[in-house]
Amino acid sequence: MYDVYAVREDFPVLKEVVYLDSTATTQTPIPAVEAMVEYFYKYAGNHGRGAHRLARETTNRYEDARETVASFLNTEPSKTIFMKNTTEGINLIANSYPWEAGDHIVTTLLEHHSNLLPWLRLQKKGVSVTIVNPDSRGRIDNSLIENAFTEKTKLIAITQVSNVFGSVQDVKSITKIAHRNGIKVLIDGAQSAGHMPVNLKDLGCDFFATAGHKGLLGPQGTGVLYIKEPETLESASLGGGTVSAVSGLTYVLEPSPACFEAGTPNIPGVIGLGKAVEYVEKIGVPEIEKHEMELSREAAKRLSELEHVEVYGPEERVGIVPFNVIGLHAHDVALILDQTRKICIRSGHHCAIPITRFLKVDSTVRASFALYNTREEVDILVNAVEGLKALVS
Ligand code: ALA
Repeated sequence: MYDVYAVREDFPVLKEVVYLDSTATTQTPIPAVEAMVEYFYKYAGNHGRGAHRLARETTNRYEDARETVASFLNTEPSKTIFMKNTTEGINLIANSYPWEAGDHIVTTLLEHHSNLLPWLRLQKKGVSVTIVNPDSRGRIDNSLIENAFTEKTKLIAITQVSNVFGSVQDVKSITKIAHRNGIKVLIDGAQSAGHMPVNLKDLGCDFFATAGHKGLLGPQGTGVLYIKEPETLESASLGGGTVSAVSGLTYVLEPSPACFEAGTPNIPGVIGLGKAVEYVEKIGVPEIEKHEMELSREAAKRLSELEHVEVYGPEERVGIVPFNVIGLHAHDVALILDQTRKICIRSGHHCAIPITRFLKVDSTVRASFALYNTREEVDILVNAVEGLKALVS
């Protein structure tokens, strides 16, 4: 039996507010925070740079975190690269892949800016981009993707879970279709990892980028990039920690993952992320997924029963419920909910302007649920939104 009240004890801030903005960032559980504090108090050193005891301890703990994250995603540590967020991982691929003028990329209108702008910028290098539209509830028809492929298509970049709708794309089938056509696949897992099972061997994709500070419950400033064949890419970002030898005008790179992690990384963050992932594993991703889906389904159903509210997205959604109160701006709704009920909820375009415009609005209010939210919090949200009727009628 899933005990959400026991889980909540590990997130002290939840005693203060109704936190419904986990798609922007989740809260971090006490064991992960304690692991970071322990780093600063007991053994802070640099990673992979030095023979002394603090440097050794730091390196061991950092690499332990890598093993934890790799095993969680069902891949190898050598293919698991720590980044500062999803955005940095996607940019690393966009900037490192050996593009040639005339190459073609397929992506979708669902993408948040992190999985759109890096591809759009490549147009300056002569790479063309096709954007596939979803249906009105944020689902992509795989046949539209296949129809968008040309002889020159090198990559499809697609989100697994839309941060605006919570809709889930069948990225495993898309990967199969792409590979049949000799096309590589990058999956943006910012909103999937930790919220639903992600098994990289099973998905078969070439690249997968996710955040540490969302479903994985780690601290901000952490992210993970998976590269299936790291030996085929040279990172666009080189520096300390990436080379095994430098002589005159030449250099020899370290093998992956070191060659992709230039400069001193976010060591305490990664150590905290490792602990947070252990925490997620202990609770169980299938249990978390079920809990979040139940809450979001209930919130969506009850909000859509209110005459003055428009809810977007499909029936099956991963923890995300976007809506608007007709006659009120999304930012006003969010501000009123905060000031009257201490509900922390995001409003705006959610770093995804094209898909928000596709809904013919400039912003939405977005309730997003995580493993620590309760049915009582759904009640608080629905009652508060119901109360806004007085302002619009
Ligand atoms: N992309 C993040 C969100 O959806 C920041 O809120």
